[in-house]
Amino acid sequence: MKNEKIKTEPVKAKKLRDEDIASPKGMRDILDKEYYAYQGFFEKASEIASYYGFRPIETPILEREAVFTSSLGVGTDIRDKEMYTLKTKGGDHLVMRPEGTAGVMRAYIENGMQALPQPVMLYNYGPYFRHENPQRGRLRELRQFGLEILGTPKSITDALIIRAMTLILDEAGFKNLSVEINSIGDKECRGGFIRELTNYYKKHIAELCPSCKDRIRTNPLRLLDCKDERCQDIKRGAPTPIDSLCNDCRHHFKEVIEYLEGMNIAYRINKNLVRGLDYYTRTVFEIIELDTNLPEGVEAPTPLSLGGGGRYDLLAKSLGSKKDVPAVGGAIGVDRVIMSPVHKPIDPRILKKPKVYFIQLGNEAKLKSFGIIEVLRKARVPIAQSLSKDGLAQQLAIAERSGAPYTIIFGQKEAMDDTVIARNMETRSQETVKLADLPDFVKHLKDELR
Ligand code: HAM
Repeated sequence: MKNEKIKTEPVKAKKLRDEDIASPKGMRDILDKEYYAYQGFFEKASEIASYYGFRPIETPILEREAVFTSSLGVGTDIRDKEMYTLKTKGGDHLVMRPEGTAGVMRAYIENGMQALPQPVMLYNYGPYFRHENPQRGRLRELRQFGLEILGTPKSITDALIIRAMTLILDEAGFKNLSVEINSIGDKECRGGFIRELTNYYKKHIAELCPSCKDRIRTNPLRLLDCKDERCQDIKRGAPTPIDSLCNDCRHHFKEVIEYLEGMNIAYRINKNLVRGLDYYTRTVFEIIELDTNLPEGVEAPTPLSLGGGGRYDLLAKSLGSKKDVPAVGGAIGVDRVIMSPVHKPIDPRILKKPKVYFIQLGNEAKLKSFGIIEVLRKARVPIAQSLSKDGLAQQLAIAERSGAPYTIIFGQKEAMDDTVIARNMETRSQETVKLADLPDFVKHLKDELR
């Protein structure tokens, strides 16, 4: 065979600019204290949810596109403008989940949870993706803690969701919460209301903002959600869902409100609250923190909702279930919690202040260090160390700054004798401990430092 020479072009390295490799817009790294704040919040929220009878669930971050296109509703921003969609090499159309409820309902149906004793109470948390315009409290990768109760229409479960969410927020430092709440009816009364609403808005069509002109056709309920100046007067005169409720919906809403009052949860009926997703029926709510620190006369900025949710009795059928699955839920926007000046961080369980600073000197000691660190870990003594450092003075200085009450020093001599030096950083007293006795000594130390 003729030997063909293959000509290779030298690959030209493209010079990268910082923005070529920066984290994507609206997405960010979470590190150090902030990481622990997220972790502490999720732990506390999961603990409260567990006490109230919720069980964990984790669904995939990617779902088939139909899970959201068939459930969130035409004309909703999340479905029409904000979904990150992708086509796999195999031809599947997938979506980076923009919210959690549709996926949880999909999982409920797919895993045959209808066969379990009802209702099924689930909590979940993790990242969600919305291609929004990043601004205050609005990210493209956001994190939520969600609670869902599936398989019951009872009003007490609407109240339970709100109760659990406000408790979680209270534990995170939010003491002036208010629940904005409304009922948007069910399939019995919604049709009549939508007709009334569209007839009203059609009369004012010339004065409406361009989005509302579209909404009349695509998603009339969202007309009540418009923030555009041009539509405010018209909105004030518009019919509201709560005035068109059928008897069953009215009764259901009245019960939810009675439960909230019974639990002393501050609420305000907001007749224009409709929420941005189509799957809701009856109760819809959002939780805000009222700013009580403003000087008199200063108008508060529109508060960001820390969490929101509602009832979604029709979602299951839009996801292919033969039977309706009445359900209710809500989600807390965890980034908004963490970024709020009101937030009081909760330490996660794994975050422990070091009780011992471990210092090693010389090769022999370095080699044996891992064994000593393991004795401390097994005794559950949190430590700090600087295995990558060599000098005593340098390590002692770091130990001093770490605030650890004890230092264990393991030098050449100790490595030969199978001992360590334990030094009390406050009294400066030190003693030699045999390696064989180290587990007992550490146990004793733990009791002393408790
Ligand atoms: P949502 O109102 O779209 O509801 O989101 C819930 C919370 O997530 C909001 O109240 C807000 O705190 C936070 N959030 C929303 N978008 C962003 C964003 N771009 N950046 C930062 N935080 C954001 C839902 O997602 C429903 N699945 C809740 C639900 C559960 N309904 C029934 N069950």
